This record gives sequence, C-alpha cells and structure tokens, in this order.
Amino acid sequence: MSNLLIVDTDSYLCADVGSFFHSIGHSVHQASDYAGALAQMDKIDFDVAVIQVNIPGGSVHDLLQRIKKKSPRTAVIVDAELESIQEGVQAIQEGAFSILQKPFSIPELNFQIKRALEQQAPRGEPGSLEDRYRNVYQPYNFIGESEEIKKVFRIVNRVAATDSSVIILGETGTGKELVAGAIHYNSARSHGPFVRVNCAALPEQLLESELFGHERGAFTGADRQRIGRFEHANGGTIFLDEIADMSLYTQAKVLRVIQEKEFERLGSNESVKTDVRIISATNRDLMQRMQQGLFREDLYYRLNVVSIRLPPLRERNGDIALLIQFFLKKFAGNLNKRIRGIEPAAMRMLTRYHWPGNIRELENAMERAVLLSEGEMITTDDLNLFFAHESGIGDEKTIKLPTTGIRLEDAERDLILQALERCSWVQKEAAELLGVSSRALNYKIKHFGITHNSWKQNR
Ligand SMILES: Nc1ncnc2c1ncn2[C@@H]1O[C@H](COP(=O)(O)OP(=O)(O)O)[C@@H](O)[C@H]1O
Ligand SMILES: [Mg+2]
Repeated sequence: MSNLLIVDTDSYLCADVGSFFHSIGHSVHQASDYAGALAQMDKIDFDVAVIQVNIPGGSVHDLLQRIKKKSPRTAVIVDAELESIQEGVQAIQEGAFSILQKPFSIPELNFQIKRALEQQAPRGEPGSLEDRYRNVYQPYNFIGESEEIKKVFRIVNRVAATDSSVIILGETGTGKELVAGAIHYNSARSHGPFVRVNCAALPEQLLESELFGHERGAFTGADRQRIGRFEHANGGTIFLDEIADMSLYTQAKVLRVIQEKEFERLGSNESVKTDVRIISATNRDLMQRMQQGLFREDLYYRLNVVSIRLPPLRERNGDIALLIQFFLKKFAGNLNKRIRGIEPAAMRMLTRYHWPGNIRELENAMERAVLLSEGEMITTDDLNLFFAHESGIGDEKTIKLPTTGIRLEDAERDLILQALERCSWVQKEAAELLGVSSRALNYKIKHFGITHNSWKQNR
C-alpha cells in the first residue's frame, strides 16, 4: 500500500482517481489548493504526489521545493493542460518525476504511478545518507512544548536565516546535534553540505589533518593527499562538536579560518579558500576553560555570535511524557510491535528519574522497553532492567564526596530535599525514592525542620 496525494481543482477527477487507486489498495489523500496540499504534507510523507500545474493559492514550483525538502523520496508527477505545458517542463527540471498532459486517462496515470513506485527508494530507507539527515533534522522531529524548548525553537528559526556563528551549549544528549542540523537544513545553505566533526574523538594531529587536510608526505603515514572537512564543507555548514576539547594550537587555526576564510592543508603553503558557516557545541563550561587558559577568548567571541542553551531533560519534566509517546511510536514502528501506551506506574518511574544522559538516555530506555514488552502497554517490569543497569554502572549516579569532606547530616538533608522536589513534595513518593518508610522520612523532615507551602495548606 502506498500513500498518494492528488492536488487538483477538478473535484470529479479527484473522485474518480481516488476511488480507482483506493480500489487497488492505495491510500489516497486529496487537496484542491496550495494550502490544502501543505496541510496534507504536514501529516503524511507521501510516496507519490500528483499535482496540477496551476494550483490556486501558490505556485507548483514552491510546492515541489517544499516536498523535496521535507520528504526527498516522494515522487512528484505534475499534470498540465497543453497551454501551460511549459510550466510542467520547468517542474521536471526542478526535480519532478514526470509530466502528464491533461486530459489524461486513469490507466495512463496508473502507469506513471507504478513506474514512480518501482524506481523509488523503499520507505524508511531514503536514497542517500544526505536525504536521511535532511529528514532527521526536520522540525517535526523536535518534540517539546515546555517554555524552555519553545524558546530554543524560536532562536533556531531566527538564526537559520542568517549566516552567524552559533554555539550550542548543553549536557550530553540534550539535542545539540539535532539543533545544529535543524539550523543548517533550514538555512540558505541547506543544499550545501552539513559536515560534522567530533573534536574530542581524535588526538591533536589527526584532528588537525581531519579539519584542514594534508598533502602527501606531510607527516609519517600521510601517503596521499587528503581533503579536510573545512574544504568539504565549502558552501555549507561545519559542525564542530565538543569544541572545548580542541587544543590551543588547533584553536588558533580555526580562528584564522573564521577571520580570513582561508587555510593551508598540512604540509602545504598554498592557501585554500572556503566559505562555511560554523556551528559549534560543547557540554563543558567554556568560561572555566578560558579562565584556566585552555580556551582562547578571541575564538570564543567569534563562535559565540549567537548562543543557544539546551536545558537538561530534568528541567523540563513536562516534555518527558511527550517524548515518551514520540519514542514509543517510533520504536513500535521500527520493531513492528503494537504498543498502545504506558502504564501510569511506569510513567511515574520515568518522570521521577533524573536523566543524566538526557534525551538520548530516554530514547535508549524506550527502545529497550518496546523490545522487552510482551503486552500492548509498557509496564514497570519492562523498565526495570534499564534502571537496574543504570544504577549499577553509571558513575553519574554515585554521590561524590567533596574534596573538603562533608557532614553526613548535610548530605542526608540535601538528598531528602532533592527527592521531595522531584516528587513535587509528596512525602510518600519521596520516601519510595529514598527506600525508607513514610514514617521514617517524616521523622527526618521534622528533625531537619524542612517545610513546604503545600504541606501547610492541609493542616
Ligand atoms: N527535542 C527532541 N525531540 C526528539 N528527539 C530529540 C530531541 N532532542 C534530542 N533528540 C534525540 O536525542 C538524541 C540525542 O540528541 P543529540 O542531538 O545527539 O544530543 P547531543 O548532541 O546534545 O549529545 C538523538 O537521537 C536526537 O534525535
Ligand atoms: Mg552530540
């Protein structure tokens, strides 16, 4: 079964085409103008769209561009009366699959659609890696309704239109790479390359040659010329991930690319020109790195024309439920399982957890839960394995003794406060989280003199 979209002002034609393709097992959606077509496209990634050249309310060329951007594998067939056939030809040049002259018969259309479907990359396996990224970074993959994340969306939209350097700050797994890609694929450079480099993954010399390339013989082992990432990214965007981990020496070279838009390959005197937008990211405290003399201030100011801070997941608890729904649907689809939702107890377990690995960790937890689940609802049992694993290994969960030492009482009080906060000051739930009885917790609360407004109201 394929998803077809028919955009046409002729309601008789739409009805005929609709009932025929429906009868041979396709799912057919219709629109009679530009806005209607956009609304349909928002909901569904179509396999084939059949579009009349003169659509009311907008141009077929814009529509084609939007389809190609959102869902590159969609085949677009345009149809035109003889007098506007030239428009159709232009559409072909812009990437439409084929053109049909009106009036056409249903077998003719069927033939074209069959041909388009045969030549198409299978669903979920888009043509190229580039297409895949293009899809991953679309706004509909951004989940979140909290004020914090809405602010991020607004900044992304605003900076996408510019060429400014952007630095993205946030803990691991908060979506920094997703945001970087969204900026690129919604910018004027979206048809240029989006090149990612993880600066922490490579030792200094390798990173340098990765970024700038090298000539043959530039160092031992350089047995042929290599083009660097700054050169590959020409006309597009380079994403420098984990920028804080870059050595001072490499930082100086990056600064020069920003200032002069040129650099040399290792082992060469010849300058190479490049036109790239720089987006960088880090989960480290750059201010501190600068104070320690480990990060160049001048580079920081160049990178930080716009900065975007991604909040950790625990600071936007309201988004957890949305993200869970999103990931459940995604993995149920990928793993071919029927999942209707999540039991309240399991949901509570997830919203109370502090998510040190943020959205990436939540995504992994949901994948495992879907894989393990035997029914249609995710239960606490499906999650237990994940949490058992987490508390066993993750060193982020062990409490670190400060170098100056600490009074055990202070630590206890602090943990109780944290537990209460996480459970919205419901003592019974906080007690569960701390592994003590409600009575024992209540005793401690009185002992430490902890109070909260919500408790007083009940008296
Ligand atoms: N707002 C969001 N909605 C849906 N998925 C998200 C969101 N933010 C991040 N993700 C997903 O979480 C994972 C981690 O995101 P990533 O951008 O790699 O984080 P970072 O670069 O900060 O470590 C990715 O799979 C990404 O698609
Ligand atoms: Mg990352």
